[in-house]
Amino acid sequence: MKYAVVTGTSKGLGASIAKLLMEASCHVIGIARNNNQSLTDAELPGTYSYYQADLSDLSQTENIFKSIIDDVKEKGDMESLLLVQNAALVTPIEQAGKQNTGQLVNHVHVNLLSPMIITNLWLDSFRDSNFPLVIANVTSGAANRSVYGWNAYGSTKAGLDRYTATVALEQDELNTGNKVFLFDPSIMDTEMQGEIRSADKTQFADVEKFKAYKTNNSLRDTDVVAQVLVDRLLDADNIKNGEYYSVKDIFK
Ligand SMILES: NC(=O)c1ccc[n+]([C@@H]2O[C@H](COP(=O)([O-])OP(=O)(O)OC[C@H]3O[C@@H](n4cnc5c(N)ncnc54)[C@H](OP(=O)(O)O)[C@@H]3O)[C@@H](O)[C@H]2O)c1
Repeated sequence: MKYAVVTGTSKGLGASIAKLLMEASCHVIGIARNNNQSLTDAELPGTYSYYQADLSDLSQTENIFKSIIDDVKEKGDMESLLLVQNAALVTPIEQAGKQNTGQLVNHVHVNLLSPMIITNLWLDSFRDSNFPLVIANVTSGAANRSVYGWNAYGSTKAGLDRYTATVALEQDELNTGNKVFLFDPSIMDTEMQGEIRSADKTQFADVEKFKAYKTNNSLRDTDVVAQVLVDRLLDADNIKNGEYYSVKDIFK
């Protein structure tokens, strides 16, 4: 059986990734603060199990993932195991000097520290697995350019990029065969984009450009974007450890 653990499955890209993996007969374990009833109720070749967790709470993150790892290890029929770290937040959207400390702490915990904690547990717990592990971390173009108001988001995504590239290098040197890579989904029609459009121009200088993405129908559907990632995940031989894979590699 194929197993996949996906963070942020309650909505947006994560919900589409979970659904498409289930369509491909994967047993998906989803993590978010809220359940996604449509995944629980879906009648698809693969199943869905939900673990509630707030990834801004680091001890909760560690404890939930220890339980997930124990549950997965009990499956005697595991032939592959995917980890997709998709959960993230874009807030606070605000110039430095006007931010709330608690919001900054939550932001870094969800976007950067939780993927680091989970990856560390994962690689340790499945060190002796008899198949290569595949880990996809969802990034953003914001990692590579400075956007007024996205100082937190750009920093955590840039941190995630460097972390992923470095873990990939270590796995290469250690000859584990494990593959750790980045996926850039580009702009999609999700609640995160709604939050971006609701920012004030003083908080986010590009707000009009992002409002135009919505009115011009430039935001991709999450099912279309998720299919690009899922096709890659299911063709693991062609994943290059440490690669930066973008939806724009398919839709030029
Ligand atoms: N939308 C875009 O245009 C765009 C562009 C580039 C990159 N991305 C990236 O794509 C990924 C998915 O984004 P999206 O647009 O689908 O976002 P979204 O619609 O806002 O969904 C975010 C997901 O993350 C989960 N999440 C957020 N905070 C959490 C927390 N504290 N604990 C547990 N789960 C949490 C949410 O679940 P709960 O709220 O239920 O906890 C939700 O399932 C993110 O990594 C994002 O940075 C998005």
